[in-house]
Amino acid sequence: MRRYLRNARTRVRTFGPLYAVVAPLRRAAEITHLRAEAWMLDVEGKRGVLGPAHAAWQDHAPEVNKEHWGSWDWSRRGEEWTLSADWKQGLIDDVLLPTIPPGGTVLEIGPGAGRWTEVLLARADRMVVVDLDERILARCREALGDPPGVVYLLTPGASLAEVADATVEAIWSFDAFVHIAPVQQAEYMGEIARVLAPGGVATIHHADGRDRGFHTSRRGWRAPMTATLFAALAREHGLAVDRVIRSWSGGRHDLAAYRDAISVLEKVA
Ligand SMILES: C[S@@+](CC[C@H](N)C(=O)[O-])C[C@H]1O[C@@H](n2cnc3c(N)ncnc32)[C@H](O)[C@@H]1O
Repeated sequence: MRRYLRNARTRVRTFGPLYAVVAPLRRAAEITHLRAEAWMLDVEGKRGVLGPAHAAWQDHAPEVNKEHWGSWDWSRRGEEWTLSADWKQGLIDDVLLPTIPPGGTVLEIGPGAGRWTEVLLARADRMVVVDLDERILARCREALGDPPGVVYLLTPGASLAEVADATVEAIWSFDAFVHIAPVQQAEYMGEIARVLAPGGVATIHHADGRDRGFHTSRRGWRAPMTATLFAALAREHGLAVDRVIRSWSGGRHDLAAYRDAISVLEKVA
């Protein structure tokens, strides 16, 4: 408190007495704006509507993600986010393997250094690995090599333009959509529906009710999304929600820390 007053006095001396009036007003306006935004995100998220608050969200736009993840230190290969060996193996055994069928073409969005890609690669006949930063694709390629049937694709942020219609049997994305702005998540949903073959499945990890930090936890740099809105976007594009996963391994592991969910979507044949 004493430091705050000392800093405030210094600023008043520097910027003049008007500062003492303007600064608290500006801060109050900022807080009001954030609270109004949080309220609107809550309402839209609960109703499953991509309304003005979700549409205006720029914090996780493609250029922000590109900068953030392109300059990330990938020396730990993303395993810094693995809570334990049992957590990871449980996610593979109880979520990835049961939802991603063997064989066919599998597409992964946001692979990082390939934490899940190596498991998918062993399962698929062909793989399409999509990211928005060439440094990440290079890092992933360095880890996994260039086995036959693997294609690395750069996206501007929500497009799968180089993937032909109805050519993909399964899509996996973990720890990527949680950081993607709602508008790009909606665009991806259209692309997912387009590239999936009839009967194809998409298993996508996304946020469920987070915003700038007025909720349970502000750790995790989550983009706003709810399971309700995600399901509404899926249905809009003709995808059915097969199930929403919040825990696995008999409840030993869950996504509660960041209040996330995994939606399993199906392109109805
Ligand atoms: C937290 S890392 C997770 C990496 C990996 N999935 C894992 O679990 O280790 C987020 C990844 O999503 C990618 N990403 C972020 N926004 C993206 C977008 N709009 N399109 C494709 N990939 C994106 C990042 O470049 C990065 O590879």
